[in-house]
Amino acid sequence: MQLYLDTANLNEIREAASWGILSGVTTNPTLIAREQGVDFKATISEIATLVDGPISAETIALDAEGMLREGLEYAAWHPNVIIKVPSTTEGLKAVYQLAKKGIRTNVTLCFNAAQALMAARAGAFVVSPFVGRVDDTGVDGIQLIREIATIYKQDAAISTKILSASIRHPRHIVDSALAGADIATCPFKVLQQAMRHPLTDRGIEQFIADWKARA
Ligand code: E4P
Repeated sequence: MQLYLDTANLNEIREAASWGILSGVTTNPTLIAREQGVDFKATISEIATLVDGPISAETIALDAEGMLREGLEYAAWHPNVIIKVPSTTEGLKAVYQLAKKGIRTNVTLCFNAAQALMAARAGAFVVSPFVGRVDDTGVDGIQLIREIATIYKQDAAISTKILSASIRHPRHIVDSALAGADIATCPFKVLQQAMRHPLTDRGIEQFIADWKARA
């Protein structure tokens, strides 16, 4: 399973990229807005210089025509830009049209496996089930990944990847991989947490103490 960073913060992207683990980046309007005052195009273009992999840029329009217009604009910024559209029937229309033009899409805000199947049929490059937000409703978000993985495996014609999104903690990363996700997009904080373990810290302390005390 590949790891993407779910942020528009350039410092976080620079740092995680230096760890050698990043295969892509996802952004959304909330994450862009969090980086107060930044220009959308400039931010996406800068991310493309930091990470050599798919970078999701989300459309704002609610109708297919608008999504298509925005999608064509974003796709011209860099060949790695992936057009993110919502899991709606208008989103499907936009995916279908963009796919015909060879432009890759990320169907986001996916909350059930039927949406994921339809996104794949329309020609989505990736689908983004929101694991954490499903968990918030009292339903098992990882089960959604499992269902989509099973459905996609049944049809060799489906090449859409499963991008596990709305990741809240390191266990979500592990469970997404075990459930069959191709990618997990994670907040920077979760990637940091995933590498931390008290026994690792204790082991390092012990090694250093023993090294210093050697005869
Ligand atoms: C996915 O691409 C989204 O940006 C993201 O994972 C949303 O997650 P949230 O529930 O933490 O906002």
